[in-house]
Amino acid sequence: MEQNQNIQNKDVGLVLTEIAKSNNIFSYSRKELITLLNNKTVLVFYNTKKLIGLSAYENINKNWVELALLLVISQYRNQGYGKKLYEELLQLLEGKNVYCCSRNPVVQKWLKEDNFEEVSFYKLPKEVVFYLIRKKIKLHKLKDFIRKGLLGGWKYYLRVKKTI
Ligand SMILES: CC(C)(COP(=O)(O)OP(=O)(O)OC[C@H]1O[C@@H](n2cnc3c(N)ncnc32)[C@H](O)[C@@H]1OP(=O)(O)O)[C@@H](O)C(=O)NCCC(=O)NCCS
Repeated sequence: MEQNQNIQNKDVGLVLTEIAKSNNIFSYSRKELITLLNNKTVLVFYNTKKLIGLSAYENINKNWVELALLLVISQYRNQGYGKKLYEELLQLLEGKNVYCCSRNPVVQKWLKEDNFEEVSFYKLPKEVVFYLIRKKIKLHKLKDFIRKGLLGGWKYYLRVKKTI
């Protein structure tokens, strides 16, 4: 298996389709996904040229980062790749304050094991809330936001490593 920070152009469509299919990830436009990939805050796993999955973080500001994306392509799930992508991304974030929102029970379990604290939306730092409003609530995402957002089970997690 190869690990790098670049995704091949041919696989961008596959990632967008997998994200759209998942009830656990709010949709990205192609432009947003490409911007995220170009930021080099992404880990990508390939196996003999086949995309296995990716994980990514986004910088919120100088104090906070978001664990923003974790995705394993459907046919490669339950083989340990997701855990590895998650763990290797977290290693990059050592020493940083991390925010994550998840409705996936497996990821929620991993976050708890890694000492993330589950908090209510109202307990999130203001800077994280402003970031969410600015970046996530967009008109073109409204349908997706209503469809996935209302599913329930979304939980908010923080891991504070740096005093602000
Ligand atoms: C969530 C997701 C990334 C997990 O990826 P994955 O590759 O299936 O995860 P893993 O295989 O590493 O682990 C999943 C579970 O399968 C188990 N597992 C791992 N290897 C296994 C194997 N060889 N055989 C059977 N089960 C296995 C693991 O034990 C793990 O459960 P545990 O942590 O309770 O032990 C993946 O399901 C996904 O992309 N889902 C859709 C998008 C999504 O929900 N993303 C998360 C947003 S927060």
